[in-house]
Amino acid sequence: MTKTIGLICGSLRKNSYNRAIAQSLIDFDNAAQFRWVEIDSLPFFNEDLEIAGAPDSVTSFRADIQDVDGVIIVSPEYNSGIPGVLKNALDWASRPRTSSVLNRKPVGLIGATPGGFGTAFGQTQLREVLEAMQVNVLPFQKMLISQVHEKIDSAQNILTDEQTKRYLQRYLQQFIHWIDHAPVPVPN
Ligand SMILES: Cc1cc2nc3c(=O)[nH]c(=O)nc-3n(C[C@H](O)[C@H](O)[C@H](O)COP(=O)(O)O)c2cc1C
Repeated sequence: MTKTIGLICGSLRKNSYNRAIAQSLIDFDNAAQFRWVEIDSLPFFNEDLEIAGAPDSVTSFRADIQDVDGVIIVSPEYNSGIPGVLKNALDWASRPRTSSVLNRKPVGLIGATPGGFGTAFGQTQLREVLEAMQVNVLPFQKMLISQVHEKIDSAQNILTDEQTKRYLQRYLQQFIHWIDHAPVPVPN
């Protein structure tokens, strides 16, 4: 059956390279369906808000994640770490802890930067945080895109580099396979 994949972009910038990379997944002629899962209207996480009842933006964000078979996060790194807006979104998604919509959800990680290390440091942190949340992150495979500004048509903000497209297509195939093979909890 066709898989539905949610796309979270860790940058709120209008001409974000990472959003352009995420868009390129949608533009491939492939077997998956995609939905954007937006994080820009989420409030700062605050346990007082949580106790008062999650705001509508949080409820619909969680529902967006619940409704898809897997999520691919496409994000820059800031100061070798996770962008604050993305961490904030993950903190909202992690609650309530016992019934988090991300619990055991298959998740893929992609990152792009004009720099030379392809967001390797931020992705390592992201993997650690998601593991703490018991998320099924696609193991072993890394999709790190360096010098992204040379791989994008800046006028249209679309990915033009053919090799990067091939890498992304292969990553996507591996991720779709992972959706069906990620481990499920052992019953008590
Ligand atoms: C606060 C801040 C910190 C950054 N830190 C890093 C970094 O640690 N490593 C890196 O490769 N790029 C870093 N950058 C550059 C970003 O990779 C670059 O701005 C990129 O275009 C952001 O992604 P976007 O195009 O999807 O918005 C940083 C940018 C900002 C604004």
